[in-house]
Formats: sequence, structure tokens, C-alpha cells
Amino acid sequence: MTLTVVGHGYVGLVTACVFADFGNTVYVIGRNEKKINELRKGNPLIYEPGLKEILQRNLQAKRIFFRLDYTSVSQSEIVFIAVGTPPKENGEADLSGVFEVSEKIAKNLSKKNDHFTVISCKSTVPVGTNKQIEKIIKNHTPKRVNFAVASCPEFLREGSAISDTLNADRVVIGSESKKAIEILLELHKPIEGKKIVTDLSSAELIKYTANAMLATKVSFANFISFFCEKTGADIETVLDAVGLDKRIGRVFMSPGVGFGGSCLPKDVMALISTGKKLNIDVSFLEAVVKINSQAKKNFLKKILSNHQGKNLAIWGLAFKPNTDDIRFAPSLFIIEKLLENDFQLTVYDQQALLNVKKIFKDKIRYTKDPYQAIKEKDGLVILTEWNEFRQVDLNRVRSLLKKPVIFDGRNLYQISTMKKLGFYYYSVGRS
Ligand code: UGA
Repeated sequence: MTLTVVGHGYVGLVTACVFADFGNTVYVIGRNEKKINELRKGNPLIYEPGLKEILQRNLQAKRIFFRLDYTSVSQSEIVFIAVGTPPKENGEADLSGVFEVSEKIAKNLSKKNDHFTVISCKSTVPVGTNKQIEKIIKNHTPKRVNFAVASCPEFLREGSAISDTLNADRVVIGSESKKAIEILLELHKPIEGKKIVTDLSSAELIKYTANAMLATKVSFANFISFFCEKTGADIETVLDAVGLDKRIGRVFMSPGVGFGGSCLPKDVMALISTGKKLNIDVSFLEAVVKINSQAKKNFLKKILSNHQGKNLAIWGLAFKPNTDDIRFAPSLFIIEKLLENDFQLTVYDQQALLNVKKIFKDKIRYTKDPYQAIKEKDGLVILTEWNEFRQVDLNRVRSLLKKPVIFDGRNLYQISTMKKLGFYYYSVGRS
């Protein structure tokens, strides 16, 4: 098939590369010439394991092409919209990008009688948006143009985006057009996972429900960790035991410094905003957000009340491991607050240093070596659970630090080990 993907962020580029790898011809549209030129050279612009290799492979095979114009739309059977829907000040999803590209797509649709185009939205959009997209397209294209809209939400996670796409738990296809559903089912044939065919509104809501549920699980784990800290109970033992109940499960229940990233915070806020418009009491979801912010504040309080000096190292800045993304990362809040309290900070992260440097510039120090970061420091703060921190040489850490203090926001180490090694060790929900 010939496809066009509008947008080359995590969702757009991964979708384009995976479908190109299956043998389709894929055109990717962007609006920044410099970025498009980099992509043409095989630079994915973001750090995502395996993405560079799959991009370069398909560039070489001439199955993926990067464009600034929309001319490929008229040749395509499917056009995916995969542009950002960032949060507005009031939490609502900003749909201006989606509507803008819908208009451009409409103006470039094939007018041939025998050509049918599916316009499928992969961007996360509130219920009802695909109907609006349909209206925009109808308003900007002659009546005889054959097209249908479909909602095809994306469930990939940053850091494991390619394997998540290939081994999806489910593929959701929402449309009112049988033909569009058939075409999308055909395209997704090589992808593992149950295919759920449904209406537009259900498809749109499935995406928000999934992210709201994931956010709720994290906040629930953090909520219980507050009880553990007041009572001496151990959060990991509590959750391990509770998680053995198959109805509950243990996955996505790691307590810590809260959820960040470009999706969970934004999508929970957007669902709250949609709920308010529909006159639904959204206090449940507001509590999820509140607990997330309490988790960060509690961790900060631990540092402020127990530090043994103000010269600290931080390991881990990305909002989660295996990405360089720092959008809504808990590290940003913690760094900002520590700076307000006159701490001197030296930070280390495998991938996210440059992005953090753009924000904090020379207010903090940056190092490419985790051991260098902790040398002669009054303590270490861990904010992202990169694998390299799990099995560090703790004896070396102990000897490099001036004060053996660790604030671990991801519960990476055993309390007994840390005690034996003589650390003052503060983690989450464990005494
Ligand atoms: C999330 C969803 O997991 C994907 O299914 C979805 O497609 C994506 O949003 C999206 O809407 O595009 P992502 O934001 O990449 O994916 O990352 P997650 O793995 O969900 O982690 C989100 C945040 O929750 C991270 O800050 C992570 O550290 C935190 N988290 C996660 C916890 O604090 N505890 C956990 O147990 C799990």
C-alpha cells in the first residue's frame, strides 16, 4: 500500500518506519526543512531504541520518503494524522495542529472516481474530534471525493516503541465506513494482537481510558506508599502481595516520584476537561493528578529534611528509562525546587543531558559519567530507573560520596544491602 503519515514524532515516525518495514511505501510529512533534511539522512531526531536502524534500512530500500508538501496524499490509500495535541493552559487538548493538517490533507485528496482514501487519526484526540475532522475535510474538498475517517489510536510507549507496535496487545480501529475498516485491517495484518473494530467515539475513548487507568495505577501505588511511610509498612511487600491477585496484578504499580512524560499527564488533564464539558463529576481523576503531585512533593521534602549538605548529584533526568524525553519529567520539578533552596547540583543521564541543559543552562553542572557526578558530593538523588543504576558498584559509590546519603525515587536497592554498606538510604514507602 501507499501511505502518508503527517507528523514525525514518536508516533508518526515509528508508525511510518514499521509499515515501511512491512513493504509499504510511506511518505512522511513535516513542516521544518532542517528536520526533514536530517530525517532524510537517517537521523530520527529522537532517541528511541532500534529506530535509527529501521529508519536507515527503509531509506536505503527506498520505502520511506520525507516531504514538506502534501502531494503524496493523492497517491495514498491511507493518510495517518500523527501530530501533537499538547495541553492548553486549562488542560484541554490543543487540536489546532490536527485541524490544520486535516485541511491540508483535504485539499490534496485524489479526485479520481476509483480512488478511496482513509484518513486515520493516530493522534490522541478527545471524543468527537474525528467527526470534526470529517467535517473539515468535507468543507475543503469537492463532493465527489471518496474518503472516510477512522480513529486508530496508538498505544506504544517511549523506550519500547517499535516492539510495542509490532507486538501490540490490541489494534483499535474505529470507523463508520466498512471499506475504511477493511483497508486498515489489511494494513495491520502483520501486527500481533487482537483487532478491535468499533465506532469512532469508542475508539477515541479507549485511548483516554487506557492512559487514565495507567495513571490511576501509578497514583494508587503512590497513595498507598504514603500510608507505608506513616506506619512502617513496606510498599514493595504490600504491592507484591496484593499484585498476586490476578484481578489486580503488579504491573504498572511501581511507586516513586510520580508519572511524567508527554502522555499520561496530558491525557488525564484532557479527560478531566472533556468530563467538565459533559457535566461529569471529575473529582476521581483530579485526585489522580493531585496524588501525582504529592508524590513529587513528598520526595522533595525527604531531601530537604534529611540532606547532610547542599552539594548533591542527580542520576536520571528523563521521565523514564530508554528515552531522552524530559517532558513533564519529575526531575524538572525536583531540580527547580532544589535550586530555589540553594542546592548545588551535578546531574547525569545517559540520554537526556542535552535536553535538560536547554532548560537549566549553567545553573547546574552536567557530566557524562555517573561516578564523576557523585565525587565529593553530600549525597545522591536517583530520579530515573535506568538499568545501569541497578547494579552499580555501591562500594565505589560509598567511597566517592563525601556523605553516604542516597535519596532513591525509584526504589532500586534493597534496604538491607544499603544498611550493611552504611548508607543513609531514603526511598519511597519503605522505612
Ligand atoms: C504511555 C502509555 O503507557 C502508552 O501505552 C501510550 O501509548 C503512551 O503513553 C501515549 O499515550 O502515547 P509513555 O508515556 O511512553 O506511555 O510511558 P509509560 O511507560 O506509560 O510511563 C509513564 C510515566 O509513568 C513515567 O514517568 C514512568 O516513570 C511512570 N510510571 C510508570 C511509574 O511511576 N510507575 C509505574 O509503575 C509505571
